[in-house]
Amino acid sequence: MSQPAYLSPIDTRSLSAAALATLARGRDIYIWGGAFVGGGVWKALTRNGLAAAGFLDSSPRFHGRKLRGLNVFKPDEILGRPGARQSVFIITASGHWEGQLQEGCRRAGLIEGEDFISFNDLTPIQPAVEISGLCNLRCQGCPRGNMDEHPPAGFMSAETYTEVLNKLLREIPLLGSVQLYTWGEPLLNPAIYEILAESRRRDVLTVISTNLNFSIDLARLVEAGPGLMRLSASGCGADYEKTHTGGHWERFEANFWSLAKEMAASKADFEVELYYHLYRHNQGRDFQRLKDMAAEAGFTFRPILGCLYPWDNIEKIITGQGLSEAALRHLELIGADLPAIIDEAAQNPLSEPCTQVRCFPIDWDLRLLGCGGWYLPRLDVNFLETPLAEMVKAKMESELCRRCAARGIHRVNFPFMADQAAIGS
Ligand SMILES: C[S@@+](CC[C@H](N)C(=O)[O-])C[C@H]1O[C@@H](n2cnc3c(N)ncnc32)[C@H](O)[C@@H]1O
Ligand code: SF4
Ligand code: SF4
Repeated sequence: MSQPAYLSPIDTRSLSAAALATLARGRDIYIWGGAFVGGGVWKALTRNGLAAAGFLDSSPRFHGRKLRGLNVFKPDEILGRPGARQSVFIITASGHWEGQLQEGCRRAGLIEGEDFISFNDLTPIQPAVEISGLCNLRCQGCPRGNMDEHPPAGFMSAETYTEVLNKLLREIPLLGSVQLYTWGEPLLNPAIYEILAESRRRDVLTVISTNLNFSIDLARLVEAGPGLMRLSASGCGADYEKTHTGGHWERFEANFWSLAKEMAASKADFEVELYYHLYRHNQGRDFQRLKDMAAEAGFTFRPILGCLYPWDNIEKIITGQGLSEAALRHLELIGADLPAIIDEAAQNPLSEPCTQVRCFPIDWDLRLLGCGGWYLPRLDVNFLETPLAEMVKAKMESELCRRCAARGIHRVNFPFMADQAAIGS
């Protein structure tokens, strides 16, 4: 088997709605993936006058439910039909399981590019717009808490955000969703309600992740309605505060229940995930309590392995530069054997493709970050002034990618992702 390239090529000529319709040849279009990536594909199709026939998803949480007014089928119900190739066209749409979904299509006898495509074919890059270049907390596993040097701080205005969205939609007509954070706290931006409203008006799904550890008008936020809201947590009580440095568990908990109440009162239809960071110290009682809280609130419980962000720190470990005290404290709590993972990645630096290559984080001041996993390196690229193809070229040829791949740093995240399967998220 040939070694996969660590940076898979990105074709910046995103498929147009007309080209997609030609490819589908009148067959029923199903979106495989009921979560937010699939939701974004649905938005992109409907915005462009194309109808989806339904969703496929093997997760029990979607069975028997309607999503966006459409039925959700178990994959076999559609792919196992006699003559499926003649009657269905699939768009696979998942952040983490894309490879498995594509494999499922192949096993059903579908041919890539003819009978199924990936959401990546519709949207060559996944933009992350950092609407807030600052945070109220100093989490020890995040650059805000474990790095000494920081980029300029500020908020993106609603007007600038609209310009960013205009360019994204011009260059990527089938864009489905935009993530509104990278290394900041998006809900601190006073323009958040306008930003969400503009995204809704343009039929683009937004993804927010928040520490929910400050005072905020939750009724207004629920009304503005992001597409997906992640609530970051890492245990309860003192355990929470260990890694959510500067945060208060009681404040998070109070906001959590207020959010659940507001959502129930207004029958809000967006998904909320309790994004639970797993460490050595918070896997037992804390884990169960947060899982129960999510169930009671009607939120999705999504455990992920807590890691040491950003990858600037991984490079420091490899090159023997000293880590900050906060980063060293954090390393003690990580469940995985990081030195062994780094070692294995460095020995086979190019053996896995990079999962970050399509992520294009745009900072609040419009500069392009070098990568979604790194904090400080920025490309000398202004998003509004640079055509998509040039941005992609700048990233693919960047010194950062070369430096990162030479040491296999892009692979260090892999064991964390693989372990997500083990924890059943
Ligand atoms: C840097 S945060 C910015 C958004 C927001 N401030 C928050 O914390 O949710 C981006 C994402 O990284 C996740 N994250 C932060 N530190 C992490 C860590 N040490 N391990 C795993 N995920 C982490 C958060 O849960 C969040 O979804
Ligand atoms: S993880 Fe989020 S909440 Fe914590 S310091 Fe980083 S940006 Fe802030
Ligand atoms: S910097 Fe590393 S992780 Fe980021 S896109 Fe480049 S190779 Fe991938």
